[in-house]
Amino acid sequence: MNDFPLYIETNKKLIDDFIKAHFIKMGYDKKFPHNKFSLADVILYTLTMPGKRIRPIILLITAESLGFSDKKKLLPFASSLELVHSYSLIHDDLPSMDNDSLRRGKPTSHIVFGEAAAILAGDALLAEAFVMLSDKDYILEFNPGKIIETIRELSYASGAGGLVEGQFHDVGSFGESLELEKIEYINEKKTASLIAAACAIGAILSDKDEPVVSEFKKFGSYIGLSFQAVDDILGIIGNKEILGKTAGIDKMNNKFTMAENIGLEKTRELIKEYNKKAMIHLEKTGAETSIFIELTNYLTDRIN
Ligand code: IPE
Ligand code: IPE
Ligand code: MG
Ligand code: MG
Repeated sequence: MNDFPLYIETNKKLIDDFIKAHFIKMGYDKKFPHNKFSLADVILYTLTMPGKRIRPIILLITAESLGFSDKKKLLPFASSLELVHSYSLIHDDLPSMDNDSLRRGKPTSHIVFGEAAAILAGDALLAEAFVMLSDKDYILEFNPGKIIETIRELSYASGAGGLVEGQFHDVGSFGESLELEKIEYINEKKTASLIAAACAIGAILSDKDEPVVSEFKKFGSYIGLSFQAVDDILGIIGNKEILGKTAGIDKMNNKFTMAENIGLEKTRELIKEYNKKAMIHLEKTGAETSIFIELTNYLTDRIN
C-alpha cells in the first residue's frame, strides 16, 4: 500500500465516529442536580482522546486481507476492542496500579473525575464492549454462531485468561527482577492477548476455519509481544510530549520491565525476533502479507 499512514488515519476516523454514535444512541448521560458530570462524560473523556486505535485497525486489516470488503459491518467488532483497551488504560493508571497522572496527553481519568468515577467508567467500558458486540442494530447480518465465537475470543482475552491475569502478575511484580520467561508471560497476557483477539475476530468474521484463526492468533501474539517491548523501550527513551504519558514511570514504580531487565539492545533484538516469528505464522494463513509488513514497521519504527 502506498499510503499506510493515510489508511490508519481514515480508519481511525471511522472507528471514532462509530464509537461516538454508539454512545449518543445509548445515552448514559443522566445527571442529578448535584452532579458535575455524567457517566458518559467520564467514559468518553479517555475513550475519545487521541490514541493509535491499533487494536481495531488490526481487526480491520485482518478481515480485509482475507477478502472481507464491507468495512461498516466490522466497525462494532473493531470498536469493542477499543472499549476494552480504554478500560484497561483507565484502570492501569489508577493509584493502586501504575499510579500515573498522564494518559494520551491529558490528566488521567482518576485525576480529573476522582478514583471512584474512574473505576466505574472502566467497569462500564468493559461491559459496554459486549453490549456493542451483541447489539441487533449492528450484527444481524452475521451468523449468530460467529457472534458467539467473537464474544468468547474477546471475553477470554480480556479476563482471567488474558489481560487481567497479565495485569495481576504485572502489579504483583513491582520491585522484583523477573527472568525473561516470566516477563514474556506477563507481556503475552496483559498486551498480546487483546491484539491476538483482534486478529482472531477478524478471521472468524471472514468465515475462516480454526487452522487459519489459530495462525492469525499466533501472529497477533508475536506482534503483541513486540508492541509491549517497544512500549517498554519508549518508556525509557521517550519523553512525555511524544508519549502522552509519564516517561520513566516504570523506574519510579520500581518496576523491571523487559527493557529495564535485559537492556535496550537485547530488547531491540528480541523485537526483531518476535516480528520474524509473527511473519512465519502470517505466511501460513494465506493472507496477503504486504499490509501487515507495513503495520509491523509502523509499530516498530517508533523506537528507531
Ligand atoms: C498502551 O497501549 C498500553 C500498552 C498495551 C502498551 P497503546 O500504545 O495502544 O495506547 P494508545 O491507545 O495509543 O493510547
Ligand atoms: C499495558 O500496561 C497493559 C495494559 C494497560 C493492559 P503498561 O502499564 O505497560 O502500559 P502503559 O505504558 O501504562 O501505557
Ligand atoms: Mg501497567
Ligand atoms: Mg502503565
